[in-house]
Amino acid sequence: MANVKKIAVLTSGGDSQGMNAAVRAVVRSALYHGIEVYGVQRGFQGLLNNDLRQMDLRSVGDIIQRGGTILQTARCKEFLTPEGQQRGADVLNERGIDGLVVIGGDGSYQGAQKLSKLGIKTMGLPGTIDNDIPFTDFTIGFDTAVSIVVDAINKLRDTMTSHERSSIVEVMGRHCGDIALYAGLASGAETILVPEVSYDLDVVANRMHENFQHGKRHSIILVAEGAGKGEDVAREITERNGIEPRVTVLGHIQRGGTPTHNDRILASQLGDFAVRMLLEGESGKGCGIIRGEYVITDIDKVVGTKKAFNTELYELASRLSL
Ligand code: ADP
Ligand code: F6P
Repeated sequence: MANVKKIAVLTSGGDSQGMNAAVRAVVRSALYHGIEVYGVQRGFQGLLNNDLRQMDLRSVGDIIQRGGTILQTARCKEFLTPEGQQRGADVLNERGIDGLVVIGGDGSYQGAQKLSKLGIKTMGLPGTIDNDIPFTDFTIGFDTAVSIVVDAINKLRDTMTSHERSSIVEVMGRHCGDIALYAGLASGAETILVPEVSYDLDVVANRMHENFQHGKRHSIILVAEGAGKGEDVAREITERNGIEPRVTVLGHIQRGGTPTHNDRILASQLGDFAVRMLLEGESGKGCGIIRGEYVITDIDKVVGTKKAFNTELYELASRLSL
């Protein structure tokens, strides 16, 4: 067992549902093991502002079901500089903090990586709806975001079918098409456009036209924001086949609301795992779960690897949407 007496936890970058459940797990697990735990307000910005407060058992009560993050989150430009990173490390050292758990996406992992190089024992937890962190099957918040998109498509289907219309739904995912892929497969979308796979709008427009000719009463196209703007795709389709799809941009609705049980469980498992790993002397690592097994990976490797796109699921969605 490493000599860990005091740790801190922060949430950073884009928030995600389940971050609160992860904070709760880190705090309760630390206290269970007799470790003092501090919450840093507003991510790396709060670290630079020395904005830390001690957490007790009750400070994380009644939050497992809440979206957002009680610690707040931020994007901090100053932390991108070596001076900012050194100041962050100094704050933690001055306060005698032995370990830091960073809950966030790819950018936040890079912040954790920098602190680790400055001698701070860091652990990364994948907190983002995008599912773009490698070495874990899923990130905290992804399951909830997909549920929100599926629920929205269920509603859109009703009205699209009544009017025999086509619908384009733009979802989040700047570099990763997983929200579009999983929500598209789960809701029977006709076409899924993602940044990882090139597409031909002539094919998309032809397919839509033919499907309507052959008796389809609605058509749903899911577009990940990294693959194009819903409005642009709609315009291009109209130019090709004369059909005028209705466009829905789901936006930040995908990042809010109560987390699903899957996200709460994943967050609880990973939060506890991060604390146990710090206690075992691990540092500079990212935590994940792959096929039910806990996985710990060098943060350099996590940051330097692009998450593989699931082409098998993509092809399945395409085969089933005839
Ligand atoms: P996310 O964690 O959701 O991907 P960002 O990319 O906005 O969100 O990153 C969150 C914060 O992490 C940034 O505002 C910055 O403070 C920090 N960060 C991002 N990239 C780096 C980097 N290369 N070095 C140090 N800190 C970084
Ligand atoms: O959380 C990730 C993400 O949702 C991306 O998919 C999206 O492009 C981005 O954050 C937008 O976040 P913000 O509006 O907070 O910059």
